[in-house]
Parts: sequence; structure tokens; C-alpha cells
Amino acid sequence: MISVENVKKSTIRSHYQLGTIFYRLLWGPHIHHGLWQADESVYQAQCQLTDTLATLADIQTGDRVVDIGCGMGGSSLRLAKMRNCDVTGVTISPVQRHWATMSSRLKGGRKKTRFLTADAEEISFDPQSFDVVWSIECTEHLFDKPAFFRRAAQWLAPGGRIAICVWFEGEDTSRPTHRELVEQVCRRFVCPSLATRMDYAQWLGESGLIVRHNEDWTDRVTKTWEICKQRVERTGVRHLARLLDRDQVAFLDGFETLLAAYRSGAMQYGAIVAEKPQQLL
Ligand SMILES: C[S@@+](CC[C@H](N)C(=O)[O-])C[C@H]1O[C@@H](n2cnc3c(N)ncnc32)[C@H](O)[C@@H]1O
Repeated sequence: MISVENVKKSTIRSHYQLGTIFYRLLWGPHIHHGLWQADESVYQAQCQLTDTLATLADIQTGDRVVDIGCGMGGSSLRLAKMRNCDVTGVTISPVQRHWATMSSRLKGGRKKTRFLTADAEEISFDPQSFDVVWSIECTEHLFDKPAFFRRAAQWLAPGGRIAICVWFEGEDTSRPTHRELVEQVCRRFVCPSLATRMDYAQWLGESGLIVRHNEDWTDRVTKTWEICKQRVERTGVRHLARLLDRDQVAFLDGFETLLAAYRSGAMQYGAIVAEKPQQLL
């Protein structure tokens, strides 16, 4: 695992408080990569990522889902609408909570969704209160990732699944250039650390879960940053960022670093699904 200093919880919160508008303008209601097969639109590719993860996690009608790091509610609303799930979304950003709540009201998802402002590293739920712990691109921001998985495993009913999409440290970061790229990504995208797919699999196993899928999707998601880069170049988003906050400019200028990290193998992107056994291991 590669860690950096100087990323604070308050910085992560402010990043999303201010940055949500940039994500919405540049990318839409889902704050995550697209998963491409061919030349699908960005929105379609984002929905493909969500739907592919939901299928891997075998999400069923009526499943109780907690969406950790729910952003503007992209996944929560889709799981409620397409899979008839009952979804609790958690975000560290009050702006995002309001946004998700409003979207849910406008889209008629009020009865099936609710959104909370809370720190995923502190919130507690009753044991066995969910069938699925869902988290797309949030665990990168957590300071103690193994502790989060230990707690999340308690929230699951027997047979329940954790389904996550993650920006991973690549498998070989012994090269200094790789390490530097990952550290730059951590600083620009406010992640205290990035870990490998093997680290995650180990933490999930240590939490008593069985890893069912551990997939590398890097080649299918990289296009995300090519499109984002073009959009920043073509629009006035950088000027707006400069007016609002210097850190938002560093974020927009970080897209090239991410591309270099994916293309060189310094980073990977993928999905993991792990299941809580019916009986304790
Ligand atoms: C890259 S966004 C992904 C949003 C959403 N999962 C989606 O796919 O649209 C990361 C999310 O994690 C949330 N987040 C970061 N740290 C968090 C924490 N400690 N507790 C709760 N949410 C957190 C942010 O507020 C943001 O909603």
C-alpha cells in the first residue's frame, strides 16, 4: 500500500463540497469511471459499470443496500429503480446528501432511498442490517481500510455481499516512477493511500468474507480520463475552478497523471465482490 501525508479528512470533505459541481458539469450524476465495450456514450458506460457490479454481486429485488460514499446518489437511485432495492446512501458531504435527496424526490425514488451525511469510518449500523454493502470509488478516501471492512462485514446478513469498485495501486510499484505517479494521484485526488487488489482481497478475507470476484477493468475504464481531459480543454471549467479554489485546479490538471498511471501499470482499476458465509468460517 502506498500512503501519503497531508491528506486530511477535512480536505476530502471540502473537495466534495466544492467539487461536486465540477463532477456534475464534466461527467454527470455518477461520480465514477465508465466501463466501455465499444463506443457507448459516457452515461451508458457509467450505467454499464454500475449494472455489471450489481450483476457480479447478484443483487436481487428487495435487497437492503448501504451505498458507502454515495455521491449524488447515482448508484443508489439506479439500484432502487432497476433492481427494486431499498437503499441507504452515506456521504461525507452535506452538499451531496442534499443533491441526492432532491434527485430522489424528482425521480420518484423517495420511498426506496434515504441519504445520510456521515463519515464511513465512524458510522455504525446494527449487525446484519444489510444484504449488500456497496461502495464505488470511496474506499480510496478511507484512512483505515481494513478496519472499515471489519465493520462492514458485521453489517451484512449471512449470505450478504460487499461490492466495491476501486482505484488500485498496481501490482508492481517497486519502480520509483510508479510510486511517484501513485503518490501524485493520491495528493491530487485526496486519497490518503491506494492499495493493491491483493491487499483488498486479504482484508476482506480477514474480515471473514469469501472473495467471489476480483476483476481488473483497467483497459475498459481508461477512456474516462481521455474524455475528461478533452472536456476540460474545450470548456471554461478550469477558469471557474481557478476562481473558486486552487485545489480544484490541481484536480482538473491531474487527469494526465491518472492516464499515465493506468497506461504504465502504476495503477489498476477494478471490482471486487466478497460474500459473508451462511455460517461463520
Ligand atoms: C468518487 S466519489 C464516488 C461517488 C459515488 N459512489 C458514485 O459512484 O457516484 C467518492 C465519494 O466518497 C465519499 N466519501 C469520501 N470519504 C468518505 C467518508 N469518510 N465517509 C463517507 N463518504 C466519503 C465522497 O463524499 C464521495 O461521495
